[in-house]
Amino acid sequence: MMWKIVIVLVAALALASAQDQAALPQNCSAPGVESIDWNNTALFGHWLEVARNPLGNAKACLSFSVGLLSDNTTLSINASHSSSTTSLYSNIDESANVTLVPQAKTGYNVTFYQGQSAQPTVFIKLLQLVNSTYITGCGYTDPQNNATSFGFILSSGNYSPTGIKLVNDQAFPLYSNFQNNTYANITQAGCYKSSAAQSLPMISGFLAVALLLIKAH
Ligand SMILES: *[C@@H]1O[C@H](CO)[C@@H](O)[C@H](O)[C@H]1NC(C)=O
Ligand SMILES: *[C@@H]1O[C@H](CO)[C@@H](O)[C@H](O)[C@H]1NC(C)=O
Ligand SMILES: *[C@@H]1O[C@H](CO)[C@@H](O)[C@H](O)[C@H]1NC(C)=O
Ligand SMILES: *[C@@H]1O[C@H](CO)[C@@H](O)[C@H](O)[C@H]1NC(C)=O
Ligand SMILES: *[C@@H]1O[C@H](CO)[C@@H](O)[C@H](O)[C@H]1NC(C)=O
Ligand SMILES: *[C@@H]1O[C@H](CO)[C@@H](O)[C@H](O)[C@H]1NC(C)=O
Ligand SMILES: *[C@@H]1O[C@H](CO)[C@@H](O)[C@H](O)[C@H]1NC(C)=O
Ligand SMILES: *[C@@H]1O[C@H](CO)[C@@H](O)[C@H](O)[C@H]1NC(C)=O
Ligand SMILES: *[C@@H]1O[C@H](CO)[C@@H](O)[C@H](O)[C@H]1NC(C)=O
Ligand SMILES: *[C@@H]1O[C@H](CO)[C@@H](O)[C@H](O)[C@H]1NC(C)=O
Repeated sequence: MMWKIVIVLVAALALASAQDQAALPQNCSAPGVESIDWNNTALFGHWLEVARNPLGNAKACLSFSVGLLSDNTTLSINASHSSSTTSLYSNIDESANVTLVPQAKTGYNVTFYQGQSAQPTVFIKLLQLVNSTYITGCGYTDPQNNATSFGFILSSGNYSPTGIKLVNDQAFPLYSNFQNNTYANITQAGCYKSSAAQSLPMISGFLAVALLLIKAH
């Protein structure tokens, strides 16, 4: 009788300690923190960065277009953003090519280029895809310094404060770059591109012709 109780107790203790370990939020650098495979059509398309923790010097209006090039090996990422945390004028374009490794789960170092000019390399892991509309991830602004890590939330467009909070609630028990109810919003509302590109398509038909005639004279 006694030995059965001992076995049950030992088993219960083992289970409790296993759960403690699993429950501990993991750092981005932990090998056990696996990235989603980036070669996934669910990740392709247009994403807005809506939240980051800590904000650091993240720029406003951060958006990304992601797609596989026709070689089936290169992931193309085109980004645009404004020049500061507060400016709504999204006038900086960057692009990066990532050479995909089949089924990689380690994340990638990504170097964006502004024209010919390489920007500092960042390291990125993608952690969770939520309802096809949000992605959580973590990274380092300096891949050689794990103290520069941050967590981020991307949205495919239909985001809301409630949705962002739900996504953060799902992430913080697992990943230490997310904190309960603590993240900065990346401003997306009111962002605009160059006024020429922005306003021309909106002026249509007769009005456009009239404006052209006025300008020509
Ligand atoms: C995460 O990193 C911090 C700072 O280096 C460290 O104190 C903490 O123990 C790490 N957490 C885990 C789960 O490894
Ligand atoms: C950084 O790396 C060191 C050494 O691998 C580790 O002890 C520490 O927990 C890591 N810190 C973070 C925040 O990941
Ligand atoms: C990124 O921009 C380049 C050059 O304009 C284009 O060829 C490529 O298809 C774009 N990638 C995506 C994912 O939109
Ligand atoms: C890329 O993959 C598509 C579909 O999987 C296939 O039709 C195409 O031939 C592949 N292209 C190359 C260059 O391997
Ligand atoms: C990405 O690769 C494409 C196709 O090879 C090339 O046209 C483009 O310039 C590359 N972009 C960058 C940022 O390296
Ligand atoms: C990416 O996925 C496509 C389509 O499934 C496949 O053809 C290609 O080989 C994959 N590329 C890598 C580097 O795994
Ligand atoms: C990213 O770069 C860092 C520093 O250069 C390197 O230690 C690390 O292995 C690289 N990670 C990957 C997945 O290539
Ligand atoms: C994802 O979908 C489930 C089921 O519809 C819903 O309960 C949950 O709130 C959604 N999560 C987010 C972040 O929208
Ligand atoms: C998250 O924070 C809220 C208060 O802001 C608190 O009520 C809740 O218990 C916290 N959740 C966890 C899992 O710590
Ligand atoms: C983020 O935006 C939401 C909704 O607009 C707001 O409730 C929340 O306080 C903001 N958070 C921060 C850190 O600014």
